[in-house]
Amino acid sequence: MRLRFSIIGLLGFTIGAGALLPDGRSHANLPPTSTIPKLDGAALFSDKIRNGTVLPPYDTVYHFDQLIDHNNPSLGTFKQRFWHTYEFYEPGGPIVFMTPGEVNAEGYTGYLSNSTINGLIAQQEKGAVVLLEHRFFGLSNPYPDLSGTSMSVHTIQQSIEDIDYFARNVELPMPNGKSLDPDNAAWIMTGGSYPGALTSYTMVNKPGLIWAGYASSGPVQVMENFWVYFEPIRKNMPQNCSADVVAVIAHLDQVFSSTNTSAKQAIKDTFGMGSVQHDDDFLGALRNDLWAWQELQPTSGPGARFYNFCDALEVKNGMNAPVSGWGLDHALAAWGKHWRSGLASLCGRATDEQCFDSYAISAPNISIDQPYRSWNWILCNEFGFSQSGPPATSPVPAIVSHLVVPEYDIRQCVSMYPDVFTTSTAPDFAANTARTNQNYGGWNVKVNRLYFSNARRDTWKEGSVSAEAVNVSSTDSMPVYLSEGFHASDLLVRIAAANPSVAGAQREGLLAIKRWMEEWKQQRK
Ligand SMILES: *[C@@H]1O[C@H](CO)[C@@H](O)[C@H](O)[C@H]1NC(C)=O
Ligand SMILES: *[C@@H]1O[C@H](CO)[C@@H](O)[C@H](O)[C@H]1NC(C)=O
Ligand SMILES: *[C@@H]1O[C@H](CO)[C@@H](O)[C@H](O)[C@H]1NC(C)=O
Ligand SMILES: *[C@@H]1O[C@H](CO)[C@@H](O)[C@H](O)[C@H]1NC(C)=O
Ligand SMILES: *[C@@H]1O[C@H](CO)[C@@H](O)[C@H](O)[C@H]1NC(C)=O
Ligand SMILES: *[C@@H]1O[C@H](CO)[C@@H](O)[C@H](O)[C@H]1NC(C)=O
Repeated sequence: MRLRFSIIGLLGFTIGAGALLPDGRSHANLPPTSTIPKLDGAALFSDKIRNGTVLPPYDTVYHFDQLIDHNNPSLGTFKQRFWHTYEFYEPGGPIVFMTPGEVNAEGYTGYLSNSTINGLIAQQEKGAVVLLEHRFFGLSNPYPDLSGTSMSVHTIQQSIEDIDYFARNVELPMPNGKSLDPDNAAWIMTGGSYPGALTSYTMVNKPGLIWAGYASSGPVQVMENFWVYFEPIRKNMPQNCSADVVAVIAHLDQVFSSTNTSAKQAIKDTFGMGSVQHDDDFLGALRNDLWAWQELQPTSGPGARFYNFCDALEVKNGMNAPVSGWGLDHALAAWGKHWRSGLASLCGRATDEQCFDSYAISAPNISIDQPYRSWNWILCNEFGFSQSGPPATSPVPAIVSHLVVPEYDIRQCVSMYPDVFTTSTAPDFAANTARTNQNYGGWNVKVNRLYFSNARRDTWKEGSVSAEAVNVSSTDSMPVYLSEGFHASDLLVRIAAANPSVAGAQREGLLAIKRWMEEWKQQRK
């Protein structure tokens, strides 16, 4: 690796890691990951005794010898981390299995407890709970770095094979833990966000492995341009705020499509980004105020950062704007001022260039445990999901510039993984996403005993089976529930306690699981 870096250096790349923003992204035009809410297990654990044995705390780490490459077992194994509890288990009960997905799983061991849907299922069905760290996240790495070459074994199929191989070979740290594979116990897979989709994909791809599934906010249908990510925001944010954002973006689209460089410069200056050279870096960065939508408060929706943004645009001299907003002139100036005041917390000690310039290529930092890097790899190769503006032909009022296009993200794939992509071998998002939908079913998923829980105010809704493009209907074998919640909000008991509609999603899922476990018991007789 060191050798490759010095060669890159000779070719004129900047040597170094590339500055990290305070939130861990390598620059401000990389979408934040949409993970499930963190939940610390240590804080939730109290001493529990099961048949005379004191149970280990939730944050006790176990290791499984996982195959590096399921297509080539001779390459050997790596240590994949997992966490486990059998506090509710009785013989005959199911194994409730979850991966927290695109994160270091250490912060998520609370998902073993009955503060989450996993624990509620385990409690109801007298099951055990297992949490498996996804390959290439946290400390579960087939290879000691995150180079593009190492990540050749970072695919959806490899992670499905991980689940299969784990379920069939693990010795769970509990009584009879060697004999609880899917032939002897019902495995129930749960997951939120990407792992919600992975629950569906696994059931499509591995019949007979997962008895029943609970998929929360899973964007099963991947797409090249996922501009509809912003639609639940536009439809659910204060109307005066969306009216003004639409007015500003329409104006920016017009100016930045023109050749009037002084007008463009004046606008960049308004946002304190006069030194940002590339127009799409400037226009794309403004998405950060919208991405704040997914920073959820503990129980009730978008956090302060999103509403501070709308207040900055809509409150003038102590007065709220009417539904139609204040109009372009005020909104543009007010957004610029608000943006300038947030620059320091967005960029930290990064210079403007480091913070915003996605064209300046530096040798990437390939250390392990960088979730953005591992997640973006999946986007580049299989998911696309470019959070761009709507296509020029769309009649929908844009809150992201039409000039932010998927090619922008495709180009970044080339600069993030220069050892595998070049400008002429850049990933083809259209082909990649078509293949993923073909392989794992997308919206056309048809399996037995899979519960889909989606949410109206979730930014990923339009990739889910509840997307307006399809409205997949609910059936007994594949119930679909649409709550008033947010991204994967039904995974947590505390959110359900504050939102009856989210509680409904949990209740419906628990009822379906109860029914399916009855079926399993019937079948075993
Ligand atoms: C690379 O990233 C790792 C993980 O975030 C970090 O600990 C390390 O300091 C970074 N290396 C450099 C040279 O910045
Ligand atoms: C605990 O002990 C009871 C009574 O001996 C037994 O019925 C039950 O299966 C045991 N539970 C576990 C998890 O071993
Ligand atoms: C969680 O389990 C504990 C026992 O360990 C119980 O006291 C509590 O009521 C359970 N919580 C829920 C939400 O069922
Ligand atoms: C360019 O835009 C500025 C406003 O920023 C305007 O004053 C000027 O007339 C425009 N120039 C042309 C050639 O349209
Ligand atoms: C207008 O904006 C204010 C401040 O953000 C907000 O509290 C209010 O709900 C908005 N009203 C409408 C009708 O959108
Ligand atoms: C799905 O439902 C929404 C809301 O009721 C509706 O606007 C949309 O047209 C429906 N889509 C299809 C494909 O039927």
